[in-house]
Amino acid sequence: MSRILITSALPYINGVKHMGNLAGSMLPADVYARAMRLLGHDVLYICATDEHGTPAELAASDAGMGVAEYCDTMHAAQAAAGADFKLSYDYFGRSSAPSNHALTQHFAHVLEAQDLIYEKVSKQVYSNADGRFLPDRYVEGTCPNCDFDAARGDQCDNCGKLLDPIDLINPYSAVSGSKDVEIRETNHLYLRQSALSDRLRAWVDASEGWPSLATSIARKWLDEGLRDRAITRDLSWGIPVTNPDGSRRAGFEDKVFYVWFDAPIAYIAATQDWAAKTGGDWQQWWKTDAGADDVQYVQFMGKDNVAFHTLSFPTSLIGSAEPWKLVDQLKAFNWVTWYGGKFSTSAKRGVFMDQAISIAPSDNWRWHLMANAPEGDDAAFTWEEFAVSVNSDLANVLGNFVNRITKYAAGKFDGKVPSGGTEGEDEAWITAELETRLPALIAHYEAREFRKAMEQTRAIWAAGNEYLTKAAPWTHYKTDVDAAAVGVRAGLNLVALFGIIAQPIIPDAAGKILNAMGIPENNRTWNFGDIPALLNALPEGHAVSAPDVLFSKIEDADITDWATKFGGGE
Ligand code: 2FM
Ligand code: ZN
Repeated sequence: MSRILITSALPYINGVKHMGNLAGSMLPADVYARAMRLLGHDVLYICATDEHGTPAELAASDAGMGVAEYCDTMHAAQAAAGADFKLSYDYFGRSSAPSNHALTQHFAHVLEAQDLIYEKVSKQVYSNADGRFLPDRYVEGTCPNCDFDAARGDQCDNCGKLLDPIDLINPYSAVSGSKDVEIRETNHLYLRQSALSDRLRAWVDASEGWPSLATSIARKWLDEGLRDRAITRDLSWGIPVTNPDGSRRAGFEDKVFYVWFDAPIAYIAATQDWAAKTGGDWQQWWKTDAGADDVQYVQFMGKDNVAFHTLSFPTSLIGSAEPWKLVDQLKAFNWVTWYGGKFSTSAKRGVFMDQAISIAPSDNWRWHLMANAPEGDDAAFTWEEFAVSVNSDLANVLGNFVNRITKYAAGKFDGKVPSGGTEGEDEAWITAELETRLPALIAHYEAREFRKAMEQTRAIWAAGNEYLTKAAPWTHYKTDVDAAAVGVRAGLNLVALFGIIAQPIIPDAAGKILNAMGIPENNRTWNFGDIPALLNALPEGHAVSAPDVLFSKIEDADITDWATKFGGGE
């Protein structure tokens, strides 16, 4: 048994997340957490809302709310959406929590003591109309490189060049559209990432088992020469910049830490909050001198987050000279695309978690998104493919199998696991299938290869159907009840096994199956030591029932309806 710390990238507070966000961080983290718990590991799965930054302020003002009140509301909404999708966080915290204020300020103090933080004056665009400095991507104007007239301050979408907003021609505020902007000088704290380049490269080079997506992004930044980063902003909402005695730092009274400085620190702060709530010991998970050396720390995130998790956050941890736990395994994902384009929170493009749950059960989404996880490449979401996942994999392959054999057992064997008969070549065949497939399934989960884990799960369910076709208890029943009993007994045991392995991915259906099989909740772990014994795990005479319909099929009319409501297919 090992201790596994799992974090999924903290969802921004500005709105309920879309299915692409879910598929690229929280959902795979949850599936992994559930799989590892079933294998008997001690898992701690931590997430939180990422509540600071300009987008939070703007979203609050759009909603006509104060930003603190907006964050309270949206944190509750995101916690509810997570619960709807059965995300089994051990703790779902907030980056705005007092714990994160204190810890972020602590990191700044120790980093400065290590000479890794310094002050520097830079020029930034200030909008008089908005009364604020504009973050790079909220300044727009004409590209100095290609003359495109709607270039964003950080990058030109036309020619791709990375820009400095002060170089835009005819700049204007993307917040209000106002052209009443000027360039002002502003003083900020900078994190001396450049000083840690070599250590970071050595650490990335020593990593094992990260997808190449993650290592290649980290190396690209290192190869380009790691630049120091401003870790404060001219905003009022955020974590105040303090002196070690708690007073506000002179000249920083109207500044706060940059959201990307405090957000990853919130992984730790949320663990502190978990500990305060449960009586757990957070240091055992995060401090290598308190036992965290034995922890396997696994992070889940979309590819846009990789640089922050492989360079900036590790700079804070390593640079502090304190014994913090670094990530061991970093699982990064590509994008789920929406009809050829991007899901977009700001453009409200795609399906969002609250909408998704109103049209289909969470199991359907969980299965589809993980069976099509954007691992090797971007993965296109379409309603048609969603319907195939549900109708074919869940309803036909798993649902029919469970239904066929449990109904038959109820009708012909009084709802009891029958005794009698001797196992023959059909049972030997399915046993051999399980002997190769179950260890492969576990290996895929351990390697966080979600598509492969789903393929293997489906193949195991399909093998069950094939077994029933071979064993055909309904044919034997007329002439040899004992021979039929063998098939029904093995079939019911397979139902139980299929329910067991379905738990990480479709927990609701798995629960219904295992309830119908009369398997107590405390006996639902994966214990595949003796695979031949699995066909006889249920005691003979044990009462079972047929579960209610597990999966309703998606009809063409549903697809038309959803495509009209949510777009897609245009
Ligand atoms: O990209 C995002 O959605 C960010 N809110 C992720 C933050 S992850 C972490 F480091 F906090
Ligand atoms: Zn350009």
